[in-house]
Amino acid sequence: MKPILAVEKLNTRFETFAGSVYAVNDINFELFPGEILAVVGESGSGKSVTMLSLLGLLPGSSSRVSGRAQFSTAGIDVDLLSLSKSELNRYRGNHISLIFQDALRSLNPVTTVGEQISESLITHLGYNKKKARRHALELLELVGISQPDKRYSSYPHMFSGGMRQRAMIAIAISCKPEILIADEPTTALDVTIQSQILELARRLQRELGMAVIWITHDLGVVAGLADRVLVMYGGTAVEIAPVDELYENPRHPYTEGLLGAIPSIANKGIKRLVSIDGSPPDLFQAPRHCQFVWRCPYAFEPCWQNIPQNYEINKGHYSKCFYDLQNNRPRTEV
Ligand SMILES: Nc1ncnc2c1ncn2[C@@H]1O[C@H](COP(=O)(O)OP(=O)(O)O)[C@@H](O)[C@H]1O
Ligand SMILES: [Mg+2]
Repeated sequence: MKPILAVEKLNTRFETFAGSVYAVNDINFELFPGEILAVVGESGSGKSVTMLSLLGLLPGSSSRVSGRAQFSTAGIDVDLLSLSKSELNRYRGNHISLIFQDALRSLNPVTTVGEQISESLITHLGYNKKKARRHALELLELVGISQPDKRYSSYPHMFSGGMRQRAMIAIAISCKPEILIADEPTTALDVTIQSQILELARRLQRELGMAVIWITHDLGVVAGLADRVLVMYGGTAVEIAPVDELYENPRHPYTEGLLGAIPSIANKGIKRLVSIDGSPPDLFQAPRHCQFVWRCPYAFEPCWQNIPQNYEINKGHYSKCFYDLQNNRPRTEV
């Protein structure tokens, strides 16, 4: 199957007064039509910057983005990174939608929720006001907001956190995007609401056939949601695998550490939190060796000398690590 999005050698740097920040380093991944790809990694690992880079949403003056991001769908085959801001604007919303963690800040406080959904339909799909309203009511219903007629005229502050996130999702899916990117959309919500939003995302993905990139720092929510998982560390993609394979057979020490840090799921009932010692890498240095080496319990000499290549472990399972975790020894080819 041809990927709907193929990202190759994505690099993003920020030029700051303190020096260059190497936020995203040589990221490669593919997204296939209709799948859910989870992107996990601790705060500051470059998850948001990766997505914002693809959509041209970083401050142009201080950021440098390079690489390719091929978006392919019916009749379209285009490198998103070669487009101008205004061209990218046409893809954003129409083909690729984004939802953020902070729904309150993303929604306009002085416009009713219903009007904001209508507005999106009028702008992107050219609906007239009446048709847009009718469709907005359907969308409110679709995302599980009861009494849509009444809620249409409510302002964002009148909504609970979970309802605001549902409204954001309604706006994001209003134009039937092929790709929905959700950047930690449930982080600010309590656990019950979080699982309701996850359930909603799964249902919509099935019903609308979208491909979804679900960003989270919480591997615990990934198991029941994703088809595949991309693990990020220090601005690099350290491991990518089908979800079951990743849980059963993690092959990067960072993933292993993350899984150890999940209470009850990875430890099969043993409720124990293992934190990974040390702090994240200094992103002011261009990577010259493995980004995890400072914290890695398996590090040996080559890990300090070179950046590991992406080793294929199994079909669709790659790990950027010189150490063979399965056989508990350095890779023979290193
Ligand atoms: N505008 C910016 N200028 C400089 N550095 C930035 C900017 N935006 C993000 N960064 C840095 O890029 C790194 C990755 O950030 P981010 O992608 O937001 O992490 P995550 O989403 O995984 O928590 C962080 O070290 C962050 O400080
Ligand atoms: Mg982020």
